Amino acid sequence: MSKSDKFSQFAPQTRISHTGREFSEHGMVNPAVYHASTITTPTMADWLEGRQEYRYGRYGTPTLRALESAIAEIEGAHNACLFPSGLAAITSTLLILLQSGDHLLVTDSVYSPTRKFCQGILAAMGIETSYYDPLIGAGIKELIRPNTKLIFTESPGSQTMEVQDIPAITAAAKAAGVITVIDNTWGAGHYFKAIDHGCDVSVQAATKYIVGHSDAMLGTAAIAEHLWERYRSAYLQLGQHVGPDDVYLGLRGLRTIDVRMQRHQENALKVAAWLQTRSEIKQVLYPALPGCDGHDLWKRDFKGACGLFSIVPENRSREAIAALIDDLQLFGLGASWGGFESLVLPFDPGEYRTATNWPHKGFSVRLHIGLEDPDDLIADLATGFERMNKL
Ligand SMILES: Cc1ncc(COP(=O)(O)O)c(C=O)c1O
Repeated sequence: MSKSDKFSQFAPQTRISHTGREFSEHGMVNPAVYHASTITTPTMADWLEGRQEYRYGRYGTPTLRALESAIAEIEGAHNACLFPSGLAAITSTLLILLQSGDHLLVTDSVYSPTRKFCQGILAAMGIETSYYDPLIGAGIKELIRPNTKLIFTESPGSQTMEVQDIPAITAAAKAAGVITVIDNTWGAGHYFKAIDHGCDVSVQAATKYIVGHSDAMLGTAAIAEHLWERYRSAYLQLGQHVGPDDVYLGLRGLRTIDVRMQRHQENALKVAAWLQTRSEIKQVLYPALPGCDGHDLWKRDFKGACGLFSIVPENRSREAIAALIDDLQLFGLGASWGGFESLVLPFDPGEYRTATNWPHKGFSVRLHIGLEDPDDLIADLATGFERMNKL
């Protein structure tokens, strides 16, 4: 039985409350946080025949199993592996599934460190990457070469927010025998069921919405049944491991992901709709907002939206953007997202795109809308526009 079958008759919120709890003991609601390297074994026969369920800290403990099982459940996957960061989950997945001489297709909207890894370590290993238009859909078929082994998607792109037609891409990939991997951090596995949409591996920076409180780094990979044995075997060879306290924070965060994401979405929709009315804003990039690019695909394939979106201001000079964001009271300027607090980040996709032309020269701004009162966030942004308009 795949892990995801156990609670399949229940609604997602119910499953989130109950999944992974079979690893708790003595009636406790949550699993113990096992700090373990050595795990002793009763006899030589037990050791040699590998009879004990837990053998060594790096191979897993009940704490780690509880989160693996819960991630598999939420993602609708066969099973899952844990990593010390989202980037480690991405890079390890590519190392596990590719070898020298392979060709890899990566969306041009990909998270920049993923691109860096493809251009750096993968290129040095003789693995060639081509970047494709995130909106390519079924057209991806034309880019598949005889040695193409993997298509990497990210939907929506975490800065430019293009929603990819994942069912069309995975259908083309399957027809050609190519593996599809998604960076599913925006949908957090909860709002985008990547495995149901045909992806073979759904990777997440669980640092974001699963942990949800900006206090731990964590990566996850949820894996379809046909790849599980191959993936797990290579994962163990790589020696990946996450400390039990961070695993526990992931498990703890996961229990409230449904209510948090609902509120992030509600707040983000309110702020994004207000931004759409502002003359200082050229474009709001939030697929959940009617009228925004990608809305139809988002509505078709997603069950909800997180609180991350971008805006393209009319004035994209460094000065104007600094006036907007530097003195905001409620938006911290920093990397990452998915925590309870609001964040702001300037970005310029013109600096890294290679396959497509980003039409808006200068800086755009990414907002993470947290769990504050959205009216307070709107008032804060309004002061930013006042500063911008005084320039
Ligand atoms: C879309 C996306 N994927 C992956 C990552 C990497 O996650 P981590 O910071 O946990 O390594 C990030 C981090 O910002 C991200 O935004």
